[in-house]
Amino acid sequence: MPPSPMACYAFILVLLQIFTPISARLIRPVTNNTLVSDGDRPVQLWRVGASLQHPSLQHLLLQGLIEKWADDATSSLVMVREEDVPEVQAALQEEQVEYNVAVEDLLSLVAAETEHKMRGRRKREIERMDWNSYHALEDIEGYLGWLNASTNGVVQVLSAATTQEGRPVYVVRVNDRGATGPKKRIWIEGGIHAREWISPAATTFILHQVATNPDWQRTILPHTEWYFVPVANPDGYAHTFTGGRARLWRKNRRVNDNALPDRCNGVDLNRNWDLKWGVGASQNPCSELYMGEVPFSEAETTGLKYFMERVGPLDLFITFHSYGQSVLYPWGWTKDPPKNAKMLHRVGRRFLEAVQHVSKGQVDYTLGGSGAMLGFASGATDDWAYGALGAKHAYTIELRDTGHYGFLLPEAQIGSTVRETAAGVQCMVTYMINNGVCARRRRNARNRNNV
Ligand code: ARG
Ligand code: ZN
Repeated sequence: MPPSPMACYAFILVLLQIFTPISARLIRPVTNNTLVSDGDRPVQLWRVGASLQHPSLQHLLLQGLIEKWADDATSSLVMVREEDVPEVQAALQEEQVEYNVAVEDLLSLVAAETEHKMRGRRKREIERMDWNSYHALEDIEGYLGWLNASTNGVVQVLSAATTQEGRPVYVVRVNDRGATGPKKRIWIEGGIHAREWISPAATTFILHQVATNPDWQRTILPHTEWYFVPVANPDGYAHTFTGGRARLWRKNRRVNDNALPDRCNGVDLNRNWDLKWGVGASQNPCSELYMGEVPFSEAETTGLKYFMERVGPLDLFITFHSYGQSVLYPWGWTKDPPKNAKMLHRVGRRFLEAVQHVSKGQVDYTLGGSGAMLGFASGATDDWAYGALGAKHAYTIELRDTGHYGFLLPEAQIGSTVRETAAGVQCMVTYMINNGVCARRRRNARNRNNV
C-alpha cells in the first residue's frame, strides 16, 4: 500500500513534535467557541510512549478521556477530544509519560469521506447493494427487503429487538428447506460497534454469497443454516452517518443522563453481555467502554440473546469488528485457554490460510485467544456465545487494516476486504462440514449419499 496522506501528515507532525518540549505542546488554545458545535470540534490522534495497560492510561480510558486507536507493549495511539487536551496532558505529564500529536484533526479526514458518501447515497437505488462504498442503514435495509422478496423463501428477515430510537435489529435467516439432513448452525454478527463500517459490509457480503452464489448454494447451503445480524447497533450506525465526531462513535445511543455531554451517552454493546461482566470494562457512562448499569440492560443485547437462545446450539459464531487483522477466540476475560482451544485454533487457521491465498500473500492475520492477544475485556458477544450459549466455535474477527487507516478504511479497500473475508469464512465452514473448498478429504460416493 502506498503511504496515505494521513501517514505522511502524521510523520511530519511527529518529526516536529519530537523536538518540541512537552510544555510547548498544547496544540491549540482551548476556546469556547459557541459557534462550533461540540460534534464538529477537532479530535486529535496522539502517539503515547506507554501501553494502554499502564495504570494512568487505563484510568484515562475508563474515564472516557481517551479512546483507543492502537496499542502495543510500549506505546499506543489514542484519540483525544480538543476540550480534553489540558486534562489528558496534565495526567501524562504527572506520570512522565511521553506523547506527541500524530494527527491534529482526525475529523478533517472524516469530512471528505462523509461528503463523498452522502452524495453517492442520494443517487443510489436502495434495492441494489454494492461493496464499493459504505452504505447508510436505509440502503442495507432496502437490500434485505430485496433479498427477502427475491429468494423464494430461502431468506427470511426477522426482527430481534427495537432500539431506544425505535429501529429494528434485523436477523436474517438463510435456510434451504428443500435440503433435509443434519445442518451446522452458523451465526454471523456485524456492526455491534458503530464506527467499524467494514463489519456490516463484510456481513452483508457473506449473506449475499450464501443467498445467491451458486457455488455456495451447491456445496454449503444444504449442510448449513445461517443467521446474519448485518447491523447489531443500528442507532449507533445511523449516528456515524451524521458527520463530524459522530463518525468515530462506538457505543449505542442510550441516553444515560440528560445532564451529561454527548460522549456520556451510549453503552458499549460488546461489554453488556452476561459472562464475567465487568472485567476490562468501564462503569463510567462517559467511557467508550461503558458496560451498562446491569448485564443485558440494552434492547439490542437482550433481543439478540433471546433470539440466539431460541435458535439453539450453534456450531459456529462469528462477530466482525475492525480493525487489527486478527482472528480471536475465547476467552476475553482471562488469558487461560478454553477447553477446546486446539480445535478453535485449527478452525481459525483456515480463515488465515484462505485470506493469504486470496490476497496472494498480501494480507496477514494473527490468531489467538483474545484476552491473551488484546488484554482483558469481558461482557463481549463471543464469550457469551461460547461460554453461556455453548457455541462449539466462537470468534471475534478484527478486519482490515492494521492501523494505517484504522476505522477510516477507504472505500477502495472494501471490495478486496469483503472478498477475502468471505473466502476465509467459506474455508472455515467447508472444513467443518467437510465438503467444498477446504474439505479435509473428498467424500466418497457412499458418504455423499448419506448427507
Ligand atoms: N475489539 C473488540 C472489543 O473491544 C475485541 C473483543 C474481543 N473479545 C473479547 N471477549 N474480549 O470489543
Ligand atoms: Zn469493535
